[in-house]
Amino acid sequence: MTANPDAAPAVANLDTIVSLAKRRGFVFPSSEIYGGINAVWDYGPLGVELKNNVKRAWWRAMVQERDDIVGLDAGILMHPQVWVTSGHVASFSDPLVECAENSHRFRLDELPGTESLTETDKRDPGIVERLNLKCPTDGSKLGPPRRFNLMFKTYMGPVEDDAAVIYMRPETAQGSYVNFKNVQQSTRKKLPFGIAQIGKSFRNEISPGNFVFRMREFEQMEMQYFVPPQDAARIFEEWLPRRWNWYTVYGVTEERLRFREHAPDELAHYAKKAIDVEYRFPFGWKELEGIHNRGDWDLSRHQKESGENLEYFDPVTNESFIPWIVETAGGPDRAAFTFLIDAYREEEVRGETRVSLALHPQLAPYKVAVLPLLKKRPEIVELCQKLVRDLRRDVMAVYDDTASIGKLYRRQDEIGTPWCVTVDVDSLEDGAVTVRDRDSMTQERVPVEGVKRLILDRLAASLPL
Ligand code: GAP
Repeated sequence: MTANPDAAPAVANLDTIVSLAKRRGFVFPSSEIYGGINAVWDYGPLGVELKNNVKRAWWRAMVQERDDIVGLDAGILMHPQVWVTSGHVASFSDPLVECAENSHRFRLDELPGTESLTETDKRDPGIVERLNLKCPTDGSKLGPPRRFNLMFKTYMGPVEDDAAVIYMRPETAQGSYVNFKNVQQSTRKKLPFGIAQIGKSFRNEISPGNFVFRMREFEQMEMQYFVPPQDAARIFEEWLPRRWNWYTVYGVTEERLRFREHAPDELAHYAKKAIDVEYRFPFGWKELEGIHNRGDWDLSRHQKESGENLEYFDPVTNESFIPWIVETAGGPDRAAFTFLIDAYREEEVRGETRVSLALHPQLAPYKVAVLPLLKKRPEIVELCQKLVRDLRRDVMAVYDDTASIGKLYRRQDEIGTPWCVTVDVDSLEDGAVTVRDRDSMTQERVPVEGVKRLILDRLAASLPL
């Protein structure tokens, strides 16, 4: 785990990725024909494949390959008391300042001149005057900071009054806590064990931005690991390299990752200790995932407020206690975005710029493209179609005949397809096709009936150990 504090971002300008994402159908602005809606993005045909693959890779590492973690898919809407008990109603807020002239609102800690603010500074009502902060749009006076709760509210049922207010969940974690007993008893898991969830969360972020990095509707991949209190500190440390390695085995450059521990006044209301895995984005070092020691904050509060016994009975020591929780909290949007940025390559090939995405084969939207050298020869097209039909039974495969072979290769390189299979005139004679590798651009001749096995073997070999 070697971070480089001076690491350069994989791309200098975020626009390079935003424009590729739009042009090739990874991500589109939501409701674009109406001018878009701030901080909501839609995943296009390639984006949905990439994000699904990221979620699959996480589920494989966190659930499928482990004996001690099980899955859950809890509702987005929960009993409103959950969010009172969890502390989100009282404390899940950001400091907001408003311009006295134009009423524009800003997150205090995103204003120029606030780079080194501590959390204590952010709570100081006199901070705007002390630092002489001004409105970034017109230089006018700014009001004092107010706390702005990030939870979206809505109403359940046909009556829109205070009694019907419910919240769109801002984290998946609470669904795992309120189901702790259900999961533990139905699976008979012994401590330590974990509950993993992937699903949508919502936050009314004051200053969303940087493409899909900070959205108002996003997904999380969170795992809650229930542990005996005395083991929490050790188990917390054990999760750090596991989560770091998950990013590197799927292709993130190690030098662009670092750990950053939260200062005591920066800790979320539930956390005893928090360390972020950060990535060097084109807009600076930012959180990719948080690893939190939440102590008994959540379960002891839910036990108290619900009146349900949430203790765990240890059959070895014959003791009952509230488990502590070590949480790994990431998101497929930020992870997919990171994999996309880090995979971006530009190189000079025969006087032209070749753009490619060196995505891990497990994450690539299409695993293989089948291309005819001559689309005017029906026998070639027929062989291609037969091959692609067969490949599609196992993997995402695509057929394309809308350009010359050179252009077709470039198109597949740009979306990260690891292998292209080309059928040519000789294929009709010798029954062999050309398999081209995205990264090395090397080509090999393979009997057509061996192509699928070759692709499946290479995919299997690419799986992290
Ligand atoms: N349960 C703890 C928790 O929610 P968090 O650090 O606030 O912790 C966890 O969020 C992860 O969720 C983040 O590391 C990020 O990957 C993702 N995430 C949070 N807010 C997000 C947003 N506005 N847009 C996209 N992803 C977000």
